[in-house]
Amino acid sequence: MQLKCENLNFKYADKWILKDVNLSLNSGEVLGLIGDSGSGKSTLCKILASYHHNYNGLVTIDGKKIPSKGYKPVQLIYQHPEKAVNPKWKMKDILNEGYDVPQDLLDSFGIKKNWFNRWPNELSGGELQRFALVRALGPKTKFLIADEITTMVDAITQAQIWDTILDISKKLNIGVLVVSHDKNLIKKVCSDVVYLNDINNI
Ligand SMILES: Nc1ncnc2c1ncn2[C@@H]1O[C@H](COP(=O)(O)OP(=O)(O)OP(=O)(O)O)[C@@H](O)[C@H]1O
Ligand SMILES: [Mg+2]
Repeated sequence: MQLKCENLNFKYADKWILKDVNLSLNSGEVLGLIGDSGSGKSTLCKILASYHHNYNGLVTIDGKKIPSKGYKPVQLIYQHPEKAVNPKWKMKDILNEGYDVPQDLLDSFGIKKNWFNRWPNELSGGELQRFALVRALGPKTKFLIADEITTMVDAITQAQIWDTILDISKKLNIGVLVVSHDKNLIKKVCSDVVYLNDINNI
């Protein structure tokens, strides 16, 4: 499968952020995206994951528009997982909202049983991010957009989390877009890298 954006144009109010952006991501591919702060990486991520709809251009999977209803085949993980969860729900409810998560997936991310009864604000950023990842890696997920997802953890935890993501995405043949300012991380986990400034005709 291929996730693709073609001639993508997007503006906030009257400020253009993206102009004539073309990008494609294949199943099983791990592609890096680098760009200056404020250059539009997160905006592009949100468009690819169907969070913004008021763009010009095409966003498709295998040439077809992505349905706006139902499970999102392109899942977005943010830098701040606390913004992606309902603070009034316990972790077990947040986790089981989407699908029946298999135990081996929880184990592979090192998610502990005693975290289940906690509220989101009773977990560290890295612990909460593991839940967000498990929730996003459901059986219907085809592409994962990872927008600075391990910025809040130490180097060892970062390596563990990425080892697990790479392992699972390979097994499930998921395409991954890795947005990061950390060039070493991109070099380590990605087979190719795109610079937003090079593909953005702003
Ligand atoms: N909801 C919004 N309304 C208006 N402007 C916005 C909105 N969200 C982002 N912007 C602006 O759009 C530009 C691109 O923001 P974006 O978050 O996509 O950048 P980024 O490349 O992800 O930056 P960073 O590396 O700092 O995360 C910035 O100038 C930002 O101020
Ligand atoms: Mg960003």
